[in-house]
Amino acid sequence: MTESNKPQAQYLKDYKAPDFLINHTELTFDLLPLSTKVSALLTLTRVGDKKAPLVLDGIDLRLLSLSVDAVDITDYEIIGEQLIINNLPDSCRLSIVTEISPETNTSLEGLYLSGGAYCTQCEAQGFRKITYYMDRPDVLSTFDVTIIADKKYPQLLSNGNQIDSGETQNGRHFTKWQDPFKKPSYLFALVAGDFDVLKDSYVTQSGRDVELALFVDKGNLSKTPHAMTSLKKAMQWDEARFNLEYDLDIYMIVAVDFFNMGAMENKGLNIFNSKCVLANQETATDKDYHTIESIVGHEYFHNWTGNRVTCRDWFQLSLKEGLTVFRDQEFSSDLGSRALNRIDAVKVMRTHQFSEDAGPMAHPIRPEKVIEMNNFYTVTVYDKGAEVIRMMHTLLGEQNFQKGMTLYFERHDGQAVTCDDFLSAMSDASGINLAQFKRWYNQAGTPRLNALQSFDKDSNTYSLTVEQLAPLNQPNNEPLHIPFAIELLDANGHSIALEYQGKKIVHVLNVTQSTQTFNFDNISSKPVAVLLEDFSAPCILNQQTDEHALLHIMRFARSDFSRWDAQQQLFINAVKANIKSAESIALSDEIINALRVLVVNQQGDLALIAELLKLPSFDTLAGEFEVIPVDEIIKITQQFEKQIADSLCSEFIQCFESLFDDGSVSANAVAIRSLKQLCLHYLAKTQSIQAAGFIKDAASSSNMTNVLGALSAAVKASHEVCDELLNHFDSQWRHDVLVMDKWFALQAMQTSENAIENIKALYEHPCFDFSNPNRVRALVGSFSHFNTPQFHRADGQGYSLLGDLLIKLNAINPQNASRMLTPFMSWKRYDKVRSRAMKQQLERIAALDGLSDDLFEKVEKALA
Ligand code: ARG
Ligand code: ZN
Repeated sequence: MTESNKPQAQYLKDYKAPDFLINHTELTFDLLPLSTKVSALLTLTRVGDKKAPLVLDGIDLRLLSLSVDAVDITDYEIIGEQLIINNLPDSCRLSIVTEISPETNTSLEGLYLSGGAYCTQCEAQGFRKITYYMDRPDVLSTFDVTIIADKKYPQLLSNGNQIDSGETQNGRHFTKWQDPFKKPSYLFALVAGDFDVLKDSYVTQSGRDVELALFVDKGNLSKTPHAMTSLKKAMQWDEARFNLEYDLDIYMIVAVDFFNMGAMENKGLNIFNSKCVLANQETATDKDYHTIESIVGHEYFHNWTGNRVTCRDWFQLSLKEGLTVFRDQEFSSDLGSRALNRIDAVKVMRTHQFSEDAGPMAHPIRPEKVIEMNNFYTVTVYDKGAEVIRMMHTLLGEQNFQKGMTLYFERHDGQAVTCDDFLSAMSDASGINLAQFKRWYNQAGTPRLNALQSFDKDSNTYSLTVEQLAPLNQPNNEPLHIPFAIELLDANGHSIALEYQGKKIVHVLNVTQSTQTFNFDNISSKPVAVLLEDFSAPCILNQQTDEHALLHIMRFARSDFSRWDAQQQLFINAVKANIKSAESIALSDEIINALRVLVVNQQGDLALIAELLKLPSFDTLAGEFEVIPVDEIIKITQQFEKQIADSLCSEFIQCFESLFDDGSVSANAVAIRSLKQLCLHYLAKTQSIQAAGFIKDAASSSNMTNVLGALSAAVKASHEVCDELLNHFDSQWRHDVLVMDKWFALQAMQTSENAIENIKALYEHPCFDFSNPNRVRALVGSFSHFNTPQFHRADGQGYSLLGDLLIKLNAINPQNASRMLTPFMSWKRYDKVRSRAMKQQLERIAALDGLSDDLFEKVEKALA
């Protein structure tokens, strides 16, 4: 690549307000697979520099005509991906006619055909693949949209309300839509297809009727009720907790098979990846049910946090995503188990986000430099962004936080704003100074905390010193404002009141300096401290806590999350001790006994018990080491699992047999299934005769959670029943690609020596399709993320498989390619042999002709 054709970066510091406004946009689509005509009529007003040209974005468009106030013009140029028009009057109507080809658009961005239906994806910058436009989120316009199509597409949908429909002269038909709310182009949507529809309705708290419609491929109606129920729960919850009500007369969701992400919050017309909508008990697991509920909620919540108030520029993405993830997490937690939702969220942080923060793609939740915006829909912007909002919530409390939200909407409804605007609203409404807190928006990397504790018997004083260290890869970071929640437990496991010199102390400490000491008195014996309770800040905490204290926390902490956290720490410490020592050290009797008590007593939430019994994932453990000891982690975790399985075999059998699953979707039934699955997971690793029977039984269940639990237990234990069960599943489910994705994932996780050949053979399976992101992720994504022994083969064959795939995807769907590249981003953290082999793949990709911006940006950073 020469300097001149290298992709150019955009910088936050270069932001300039637009020179023109688009007050109104009229679009007419004449849909044809290879030659869709798009006519755009833009009502423009100059707001900036008198001499400024109008600069419109456009990619892969054929310009058919261009006129200003109905007069054709020639005073324009097309330079790269921009159409530049000079000498425009201060206000005018600009008409642009272009032609595009939805059928050949495999990028799944702009307008494309998905399994026979037309659909769009415009966030972040896909609208420019539809027509020339000011494709930036700070240009807000009302839209009128006319869709003309063949009658084999009975449903023609766009944002807002349908205001007209009918036939055209040549036997085609049309609909016309009007969206009364101003919106940026990224929220535009169009769908044309032949769907089954589930209809329902909702009455808002102020008494307005809203029509709800869920569009799915023909034959899928039986898989829609859960998503519809989730939508109504989300609408109700947003009224109850945030006092936010829906604003249009109709809310539509369309499920499509080809989609790069989970879903998209287009105004009044959400478009979803079908895997995030379709579910029934036969085809979807309890986990799928949960994911669907949370994504339906997420997109719904965007209507206020994202659509009514949107982002000024894409660097502010976390303004809407961090906040909306926080909202969807709260939704799930209010409706289900708060502890389990917290555990899930923290797992995402500790595995994916911490590793992104430590690698070459590290960026603050508000990035400052971007080449390809699609590369910044990251766990950092989304999940760390949500943690930052959560910390604000912790610092302000629910009441003040809600006051802040109210003020934010009062000030900014209908505007495109920045993260600073959000912070100002929060701080103005609460009176709490967030000046230092703001650094969370500018600093990349995971802060490291050291906690030093001491207890003085004579004065009955306990003191805690918290030290903040900059992340290793961000040495210049300044100290952050960290809400550091704690609980002190006495020897009986009771919570100790926090006070110093007669004054009560709130359990959330404000850590603001690089070293800070907190004192507590009136404490009669050395306490056990639960630190960073509930993961109150997204940090790495170093504490010298011994096994006894961790077991105490696991038993007694008031936070179920912290109990789990302590249990994880016990496992992590044991893995580390093994890696340090020359001979292998088994899990202590105390740990095994604590686990036994959990299985036998079955006290409290059974789903939490299941979590407490799980070892940390490979990625979590990997995060503990500077150079990841791949073989050792695999060996030791296998050894621990075998030890747990053998020591508690009869308890697992007893537990499995005693739990009755009524097959419902109640929280209790879900919890029972998860604990039964956990039992199976361990039992599969024993020689017990019962195990094979349990596995076969569960595999023949009509409930997908049980089936998948059985199969995954069998696969992970390389159990002899594996092949038979997998073959049966294939023949049973070939007609349902979403279910087959589960099968592809199981196939990819098999650790036998022929794993790579197996995957290559599966590329030929009738259900596999390189252009479908769900298929690719199910097969190759599962392989690269979860099949550690085979992906990280020392001979590099696992890496070659992924490298080959990325080269292929670069030409089909760069966005998907870029996401699939992630495992290579941390190549420097592996041993010499492995890192060299991964680097070779990165270099292969870097040398590609026609390398996409998406891959370029990541590969360049990785190799820098
Ligand atoms: N805004 C969507 C959501 O979070 C995600 C869309 C991302 N699309 C993309 N091409 N990066 O719900
Ligand atoms: Zn979102």
